[in-house]
Amino acid sequence: MSCLGWFKRRRSRSGGIVVVVGEARGAGAGVGVGPRDHDDDDHHTTASAVSTSRSDDSGAVRPVSKSAGSAGSSQLSQRSISSLYEERGHGQLRVFDYEELQGATAEFSRAQKLGEGGFGSVYKGFIRAADGKGDRVPVAVKKLNQRGMQGHKQWLAEVQFLGVLEHPNLVKLLGYCAVDSERGAQRLLVYEFMPNKSLEDHLFRRANPPLSWNRRLQVILGAAEGLAYLHEGVEVQVIYRDFKTSNILLDKDFRAKLSDFGLAREGPTGANTHVSTAVVGTQGYAAPEYIDSGHLTAKSDVWSFGVVLYEILTGRRSLDRNKPAAEQKLLEWVVQFPPDSRNFRVIMDPRLRGEYSVKAAREIAKLADSCLLKNAKERPTMSEVVEVLRRAVQAHAEPDNRTPGGPGAKGKKADAAAPSRR
Ligand SMILES: Nc1ncnc2c1ncn2[C@@H]1O[C@H](COP(=O)(O)OP(=O)(O)OP(=O)(O)O)[C@@H](O)[C@H]1O
Ligand SMILES: [Mg+2]
Repeated sequence: MSCLGWFKRRRSRSGGIVVVVGEARGAGAGVGVGPRDHDDDDHHTTASAVSTSRSDDSGAVRPVSKSAGSAGSSQLSQRSISSLYEERGHGQLRVFDYEELQGATAEFSRAQKLGEGGFGSVYKGFIRAADGKGDRVPVAVKKLNQRGMQGHKQWLAEVQFLGVLEHPNLVKLLGYCAVDSERGAQRLLVYEFMPNKSLEDHLFRRANPPLSWNRRLQVILGAAEGLAYLHEGVEVQVIYRDFKTSNILLDKDFRAKLSDFGLAREGPTGANTHVSTAVVGTQGYAAPEYIDSGHLTAKSDVWSFGVVLYEILTGRRSLDRNKPAAEQKLLEWVVQFPPDSRNFRVIMDPRLRGEYSVKAAREIAKLADSCLLKNAKERPTMSEVVEVLRRAVQAHAEPDNRTPGGPGAKGKKADAAAPSRR
């Protein structure tokens, strides 16, 4: 059943629109802060959107209780993120004073600002260990927009998911801060600092040198491993819901780390095939069946992964309003240049200067196409995606024209070395 919900829009730097529909997730115990009752804020305009909802989208913040089984019989899920968080998450996170983070970021000064997203701003800061000893270490402090329950929900979800999840390809949450005073509520998150910012910064910002072919493959493989862990490696399946280049952060060695779990959601349990939810995410990345029905599965993330694969190949954003009309929507544009066609190379990022393996690029485009199948069930799982990417990295990490005798070349040197036709 669908009902009229609401969503918030912001114009992102990419010209895309972040759409956030009011919803709550089943979480909330443990960090000791209750929800507030208004959820719009002045960075966003409000509009109506069609969404489906069920009991756990009601707005209440409470421990997860999911229905399992198609006959409607209700039973508690074996595990939930909130129960895992209670068990082992919150002991590991440091609780910061507001003043401590204020001092660490030079009062949240503009000079310290690393970026701004849909829910708040991120600042670089320096903190000491909890015992006050040792050198100060760099951190990233996200200060959520002050007004609005949506900010609180994003914050709460992030604390609970990242308090429980642990993987080399997920950003590490060090701690949080929550204060409610007459001057308003403050919600902050403190992460390990990622010196190389995000994949978005490197792929689309001309100020940064272009990412090499090898590095693109390594980054997307790391991101795929992070997503596979969320889908298949945790007691509770986690659907990420916001897979995009700005949420793939890069450490000092350019290792990919997924960030932003504010929209993450527990996957279906028991006989359920999907979770029904209000539609949230970023335009240009959300799977069509999810937009149409609000039915969320891990395969919605696989779709978003397919979109990012094409962004990595082309160096183009999934949605770019500055391009001619026929090229604004990346997926509609690339479909004219299928992986096995003669003119496939037209889509490749000119910033690669032809230094890539055409064979691997075609394989990756085919993989992207399988992630972008209309029928969600036919899309590969993320562990299958990881396998394909691993093989591509092993065989073709070097550009063809750099390895004339290497495994990626195999007599295709002339083809590979030819510059792309744009
Ligand atoms: N841990 C971190 N270390 C270094 N920089 C970070 C870190 N987290 C975020 N940033 C920087 O801050 C920017 C803003 O992040 P944020 O997650 O708030 O917004 P976004 O990803 O651009 O958009 P959205 O709100 O839609 O996710 C990022 O693009 C990144 O450059
Ligand atoms: Mg982000």
